[in-house]
Amino acid sequence: SREELDEIYDFAIQLGKDAGRMLMDAARLRMGATGTQGQKEHVEKENAVDLVTETDEDVEAFIKNAIAKRYPSHKFVGEESYSKGASRDYLIDDSQTWCVDPLDGTVNYIHLFPMFCVSIAFIHNNKPLIGIINAPFLHQFFSSCHGRGAFLTSPNEPNSQPLPLVRNPIPPMPANAPSKCVFSCEWGKDRRDSPDSNLHRKVESFVNMAAEIGSRSGRGGMVHGVRSLGSATLDLAYVAMGAFDIWWEGGCWEWDVAAGIAILQEAGGLITTADPPEDEANAPIEEVRLGSRLYLAIRPAGPSATETGRQSQ
Ligand code: IPD
Repeated sequence: SREELDEIYDFAIQLGKDAGRMLMDAARLRMGATGTQGQKEHVEKENAVDLVTETDEDVEAFIKNAIAKRYPSHKFVGEESYSKGASRDYLIDDSQTWCVDPLDGTVNYIHLFPMFCVSIAFIHNNKPLIGIINAPFLHQFFSSCHGRGAFLTSPNEPNSQPLPLVRNPIPPMPANAPSKCVFSCEWGKDRRDSPDSNLHRKVESFVNMAAEIGSRSGRGGMVHGVRSLGSATLDLAYVAMGAFDIWWEGGCWEWDVAAGIAILQEAGGLITTADPPEDEANAPIEEVRLGSRLYLAIRPAGPSATETGRQSQ
């Protein structure tokens, strides 16, 4: 019910705040120990770039326990529990499920690059209904609840009010829209050195997509920027606020995207599991399915580039 969902939302917001504080305390401790270079302590999981720190594990345990205490019947899917084999039934189904990445951007955290966050989603009937993303180093707290809007709050600004993210119906992607946009793309963790590896495929198709879109618009090379932050969930929050126009990644897990999807959809943005549409301006857009590995997100329609003055830059 509406009331139940609102109550879960309040709980999730508090959880996001507490977990963000834990992340920040841990980051400060690491900085304090050796100056700004910090200690790069971590353990490798699947390969040399798939990393976990004590912080990932502590924050996940904290969130998992808090949820189990308050909502014992809800299912929990978390990145670290899954890695340890404690949660092999990680698949998202119709049950009320929490999907959590305690530390998205683990590599960033290890290197003390500020783009890291805790990402918490509440999902029901396979739909992400609540999303919380707290990036404590950046003082950015994103939150959304189905039917209540999506917001960005800056916790350390005195009297700061939550800023609503855009909510507009998005038109089909016109063939020439994305020139002068900022793309974001992540590289995931596949480092196999063969032409058909994930990384190679991604670099190639990402660059092709940017070139293709540029040439279709008759303004090849006019893409304003290409970014790669190292946190898929934050990418989605930035698409939701319109800072990024497009984000694309192959190889994500549910916990990398669930909260970001909730926030993006509530802001009126679009996410699909399809490959980038090839040439048809009106190619059908598939509805997003959790459990896919490839995602493409497009920002809410919002005001046009001309209206915001971005065109002239
Ligand atoms: C990773 C980050 C990264 C993305 C990977 C994710 P983690 O999550 O979101 O940007 O490229 O696919 O697994 O390991 O930092 O929680």
